[in-house]
Order: sequence, then C-alpha cells, then structure tokens
Amino acid sequence: MNIHTFANQQELNEAGAGIIIGLIQTKPDAVLGLATGGTPVGIYEELVKSYNKGRVSFKSVTSFNLDEYVGLPEDHQESYHTYMKHHLFAHIDLPAEQIHIPDGNAADAEEECNRYNREIEKAKQIDLQILGLGHNGHIGFNEPDQSLVSGTHLVELQPETREANARFFDSIDDVPTQALTMGVGTILKAKTILLIVRGADKAEIVHRALTGPITTELPASLLQTHPNLVVLLDAEAGRLFV
Ligand code: GLP
Repeated sequence: MNIHTFANQQELNEAGAGIIIGLIQTKPDAVLGLATGGTPVGIYEELVKSYNKGRVSFKSVTSFNLDEYVGLPEDHQESYHTYMKHHLFAHIDLPAEQIHIPDGNAADAEEECNRYNREIEKAKQIDLQILGLGHNGHIGFNEPDQSLVSGTHLVELQPETREANARFFDSIDDVPTQALTMGVGTILKAKTILLIVRGADKAEIVHRALTGPITTELPASLLQTHPNLVVLLDAEAGRLFV
C-alpha cells in the first residue's frame, strides 16, 4: 500500500490526474473504473485541463462507473449519469459507446446487474479503479454489512449515506433509497486501486479502514488485501497517519 498525503487540494488533484494520465499514455486503451461524489471532482477538472492542452486523449479508453441511484431519471441533475457528463464526459473525447454506467431505471434490476457484470468481464480487467470513501466506510455503494456481494447488485442505502448525500438534493426525502453498485469482488479485481479521501470528517474512518481489522462491517478495509493500492489523502484526512 502506498499512502501519499498532500498539503493542499491542488497538489492532490494534480497527483491523481497525473496517475490516470500516466496510465493512458502507456496504455491508450486503458479501462478506467470511475467514481462520483465530491471527492474526484477536482481530479476530473485536471483531466479536462490536460485534455484541452492536448496532453491526453481518451478516444481508446473504456470506462465503467461504480454505481448509480435507482429510480432517478437519467437526466436528473443528481443522477450519476448527469454528474459524469457535467464533470468529465462532455469535455473530453471519450466515445459514448465506450462509457458504461449502471442503468438505475432498468425494469429488471437483477438483469441489469448481470448485464453490467458481463460488460466488465468483456473488458477483461479494470486497469485503474478510482474510489472515494463513505463516512461509514462504504466504497461504491457497498454498505457495511455482515456479508458483502462480489458482483454488481442492488443495495438499500443506509440512512447515514442518504444523509451524507442529501446535500446534493432539495431535501433528504428526495435522496433515492436504493442504488446499483459494482460489488467489492469486482473492485478488488482491478489491477490498481486509487483511493482518494479528503477532509477531517474522514480521518478516522480512513485510518481504521487501512490499519484496523479487515471486516465487511467496514467495506473499505478489504482494500488492505489488494496488492496495488495507492491512497491519496489531503492533510486533514491523513492526520492520523503519522
Ligand atoms: C457516495 C458514492 C461513493 C463515494 C462516497 C463518498 O455515496 N456512492 O462512490 O465515494 O459516497 O462521497 P463524497 O466523495 O461526496 O464524500
């Protein structure tokens, strides 16, 4: 495990984007696993800047998003489809047919999860999986539980997760109660995992996840078992790693 702590957000953003760009430069047809939430926004901004300067092209890249809410129209301003368009896809040359996001409006959620798993299998391996971290230790939308599911599946969001995401909606009642998420098994199969954590409110959970017992009650703790985990922390999130 490689843990890097950054004094400011800009340095962290540039380091994160640099890892992604370095991968695409050596492997133009890289398969990226992408995350949403507040955490990766600054990194996506840096990717767009680099693209605009002609330093990187995404035309041969394939992407798989981690998750999507169930029941939000695809064009809802808080759907992860909209998030990805707004923060990244509308500004780069990644072809639409190479973008994959679970369909949270599929009539049959189980069939949609199976379809998503098959698409990931077709791509062979995710080269780089970007991850944020939930306050309760979730990754993607894999919530703490007595057991975890390996592949893409339907989840009930925990109250804490809905509360954390309520800041993006008019009220907590508008936050969906379910989501489709890649499973922890799929996440752990990625060649490299890039975990990004920011903020004092996540200092304790990231420290426990990476140094404490490995348990399904803290899904991110399973990342300790990954042979190629890179962690980028801002100074606040990294304060317990000294
Ligand atoms: C969300 C997403 C995760 C994200 C996490 C943290 O609910 N499903 O992929 O990493 O929670 O979000 P944020 O980066 O906004 O703190």
